[in-house]
Amino acid sequence: MTNGEGVQRADFVVVANRLPVDLERLDDGTERWRRSPGGLVSALEPFLRARSGAWVGWPGVADADVSPFTEEGLRLHPVRLSADEVRDYYEGFSNGTLWPLYHDVVVPPAFHRSWWNAYVRVNRRFAEAAAEVAAPGATVWVQDYQLQLVPAMLREQRPDLRIGFFLHIPFPPIELFMQLPWRTEIIRGLLGADLVGFHRPGGAQNFLWLSRRLAGLEPSRAAVGVRTKPGVVPFGDRVVRVGAFPISIDSAGLDALARRRDIQQRAREIRAELGNPKKILLGVDRLDYTKGIDVRLFALRELLEDGRIDPDDVVMVQLATPSRERVEHYRQMREDIEREVGRINGEFSRVGRPPVHYLHTSVNREELVAFYTAADVMVVTPVRDGMNLVCKEYVACRYDLGGALVLSEFAGAAAELTSAFLVNPHDLDGVKNALHAALTVDPAEGRRRMRALRRQVLTHDVDRWARSFLEALGSQPHTE
Ligand code: ADP
Ligand code: F6P
Repeated sequence: MTNGEGVQRADFVVVANRLPVDLERLDDGTERWRRSPGGLVSALEPFLRARSGAWVGWPGVADADVSPFTEEGLRLHPVRLSADEVRDYYEGFSNGTLWPLYHDVVVPPAFHRSWWNAYVRVNRRFAEAAAEVAAPGATVWVQDYQLQLVPAMLREQRPDLRIGFFLHIPFPPIELFMQLPWRTEIIRGLLGADLVGFHRPGGAQNFLWLSRRLAGLEPSRAAVGVRTKPGVVPFGDRVVRVGAFPISIDSAGLDALARRRDIQQRAREIRAELGNPKKILLGVDRLDYTKGIDVRLFALRELLEDGRIDPDDVVMVQLATPSRERVEHYRQMREDIEREVGRINGEFSRVGRPPVHYLHTSVNREELVAFYTAADVMVVTPVRDGMNLVCKEYVACRYDLGGALVLSEFAGAAAELTSAFLVNPHDLDGVKNALHAALTVDPAEGRRRMRALRRQVLTHDVDRWARSFLEALGSQPHTE
């Protein structure tokens, strides 16, 4: 089915800031597509590929005029952003205001009216694009903090649609949310959905409270459960449901990849390339100040200084995907981290054996799985993270029950992965002790922990996450 302008319509539409692929402009003037960064794409792409759906999103560069196209069975509908909109809507309001505000104001959020105006304008554009693509009565699933106004804008244009919204980052404590000059508009924007989903019940609870305080509604008061007992907000002639749906990964796919002989071989090669150390510590993150990369480096340096670990025995690898490089706090953090890496390597390297291998790059899925397989200790130390998929990916790859996971209590995943070595990233001694304990864990105890972690990750995969959300929304797209 097509609309009046010849756009092919779909019964199931995902709307996200980014398309699953990013347009890359090379120095020689040519262009190519590559996979987009971040957990949202990692989670949703395998799910949507297996279904007949369309994806509305930005192609990742300014002023790109790209017509809708199909990529391996997925229909992609690019939304154009001008360079000013990238600056004000994406780098500005999304990542200079909302991102730090929703992550416990780890850095101070900036409030600029021009950024807000761009956010409204771009959200309207996404809503219009979704309205064009959605077939009558379709389900539209809007994603994340960049598009919180889309549910209400879309409902205004297309009351026939079933609209879901999922927030992939933490929803902040009420006291912090109340700082936002446009707090009421955001709550009203989200209330345009039939179902608003968060990772944790606490986020859902905060939203219910705010819908009373800011929108004058009468939400339910009972506690929200995980995937059960959603809250309800009567709103005009509709009822908005509000629930907690912890996101996950394609666990079986990663487990199968990790078992491949070529991946095992590559893991051995990585170990050899690192000089066959006794223990490999691994960090894998977007280069973001919420991820606590500095925390793990400080802990490593002090453990080396204290003589509790030997630089001949232990190597840390940090894979860091470049992210939001034009935003000032990100630039600053990159400089700080690179200085700390230099400092540790300057003090503790032997010729050809630096203790920290820092790669400012993203690697492909096979290589990533080989790194997970090679790592003895996975270090995930965010100061705040909505969920964190990296820790789940590591667990999914450890079918051998090897390896140990050090995980921040402030990642949403900590509520599920309770057999990890849990740490408070603000407590440096605690982080050092947890790293040391993970490095020296008794093998039987390590296996016991990993078995428990795998039970959780393999039974709660991304398919279950998406199905539980869509069932609560009252919709289930058909599988191809
Ligand atoms: P966020 O969404 O904030 O980036 P998540 O941990 O939820 O954090 O998801 C990050 C995703 O990006 C994971 O799927 C992870 O494998 C991937 N990723 C992060 N860093 C790298 C890297 N350097 N190379 C390849 N993939 C990476
Ligand atoms: O999961 C949080 C998230 O912000 C996603 O919304 C986003 O796609 C991803 O991280 C990567 O960030 P960005 O799109 O800004 O590069």
